[in-house]
Amino acid sequence: MRYEDLKGKKVLVTGSSSGIGAHAAKMFAEQGSFVGVHYFRTKAGGEKTLEEVRKLSDGCLLCADMRDEGQVGKMVTDFADAAGGIDVLVNNAGTLVGRRNFAEATLEFYEDVFATNTRSTFLATRAAVPYLKQSKGNIVNIGSVAGHHGGGAGAGIYAAAKAAVATMTISMAMEFARFGVRVNSVLPGFIETRFHEQFSPPQRKKAVAYKTPLQRNGTAEDVANVILFLASEAASFITGEYIAVNGGLYMRA
Ligand SMILES: NC(=O)c1ccc[n+]([C@@H]2O[C@H](COP(=O)([O-])OP(=O)(O)OC[C@H]3O[C@@H](n4cnc5c(N)ncnc54)[C@H](OP(=O)(O)O)[C@@H]3O)[C@@H](O)[C@H]2O)c1
Repeated sequence: MRYEDLKGKKVLVTGSSSGIGAHAAKMFAEQGSFVGVHYFRTKAGGEKTLEEVRKLSDGCLLCADMRDEGQVGKMVTDFADAAGGIDVLVNNAGTLVGRRNFAEATLEFYEDVFATNTRSTFLATRAAVPYLKQSKGNIVNIGSVAGHHGGGAGAGIYAAAKAAVATMTISMAMEFARFGVRVNSVLPGFIETRFHEQFSPPQRKKAVAYKTPLQRNGTAEDVANVILFLASEAASFITGEYIAVNGGLYMRA
């Protein structure tokens, strides 16, 4: 899909050292965007993504622990300085952290899951909003289908953190609409990335594909396609909305 308006746009994709973020970064570069490639623990992944981005367009590499206020603020400012502003922020960095039931999770674990998935989205958005107001840009938050159904085994705290991202998407959309800034979210289902390699046994992959109406698991490209659509002018009258990318695994009226 070609989105002519994304050419030359300054797009910051958090968590683009792996999986969905890495794929989205490359697809924005395909459109001619200047891409901020962000990593935290996986420097080699960030460097690989930037190499791919530079074959297609241009970009820069950024490092930050998305749980840390100072690091996120600096990362967003560094990107805006390098790119000359910000048009699109993709709040993608996040992970399950681990599988723990409510009855056994420590407070530290709970705080870490919310910091990684929810605080990260707040911090990056707050830092990027002054630039987005100038560009009349937009934000795409990556939530999860888990935020709707409560999550699989040991993923309840993660599901709650992602449900908060969904609600923040609506609140942010209302707050920023008067500045011409749109905010939407994508809710992935079971997507085959490092995420499930780390946290799901291999047999789960097959079992989920079997019960998915479209009879397969999702790919990073399936999700990135929707991120690009929401970030583009094709979605110019859409804000506060979510698109689930889950092959029909969880449908809502
Ligand atoms: N895969 C799925 O089935 C699925 C389903 C629903 C939602 N999601 C969501 O989709 C997003 C992308 O996940 P993915 O599947 O692409 O997983 P992934 O391949 O494991 O990528 C996760 C990305 O998040 C970054 N990240 C994690 N913790 C971070 C922290 N504290 N600070 C900065 N960056 C951090 C990682 O960076 P480093 O490795 O460099 O630290 C990596 O780039 C996440 O928000 C995830 O919750 C995924």
